[in-house]
Amino acid sequence: MGPNGSGKSTLAYTLMGHPRYTVDKGEAIYKGQNILELPPDERAKLGLFLSFQYPQEIPGVSVSNFLRTALNSVKPNKVSVPDFVKLLKEKMKLLKIDDTFSRRYLNEGFSGGEKKRAEILQLAVLQPDMAILDETDSGLDIDSLKVVAEGVNTLIGPNVGILVITHYQRLLNYIKPDKVHVMMNGKIVKSGGKELAEELEAHGYKEYEEFEGEVKA
Ligand SMILES: Nc1ncnc2c1ncn2[C@@H]1O[C@H](COP(=O)(O)OP(=O)(O)OP(=O)(O)O)[C@@H](O)[C@H]1O
Ligand SMILES: [Mg+2]
Repeated sequence: MGPNGSGKSTLAYTLMGHPRYTVDKGEAIYKGQNILELPPDERAKLGLFLSFQYPQEIPGVSVSNFLRTALNSVKPNKVSVPDFVKLLKEKMKLLKIDDTFSRRYLNEGFSGGEKKRAEILQLAVLQPDMAILDETDSGLDIDSLKVVAEGVNTLIGPNVGILVITHYQRLLNYIKPDKVHVMMNGKIVKSGGKELAEELEAHGYKEYEEFEGEVKA
């Protein structure tokens, strides 16, 4: 969590390897490797996943085609078309997504909430080891929020890490975080449990403004 412009998306994009960001120094170690040295597709093959705050529209590429290509790109073994169709149907059912969705062009003309669902469908199909969800809850109605949270919860396991970027404590009613971190000016200024999110909801970020750039234990 953190106020607008504090660097949350910047951190997410940088970890995934967005070309817009140049890392001047430091490392990001994942599975024993400095992932900053790898191109984004290699990071995805290692199990990293990013759900975008503002998903891109890709006219001409159907959701189904996109997901099958993505899955075959990140997994070592190719998935056959029948197996993929089965997997996709199962995940769409889980996420209460209408059948027609998979035939539409990726995000083209999708409502804000539908775009976020498409991101979660991607997450469910790819089953990454480390997922970063950048405000996947924003713009979702209450029912969609619950469905999305359930989708995330089915993925959670001892070998899966999920980093959720959110402005709203309400998401944490459905997804139980092990830790909550507050980011201000590009730094983590406070870490705690779920109660920290509740405190932020009640009091905002004022308390942390004086700690700009300083780390508070
Ligand atoms: N390409 C860029 N060039 C210059 N400044 C940038 C660039 N991308 C982001 N910034 C700036 O970096 C800061 C952090 O942006 P970022 O998108 O990471 O914030 P955020 O914490 O995700 O905010 P929000 O909650 O609004 O999504 C902002 O001031 C933003 O304007
Ligand atoms: Mg952001």
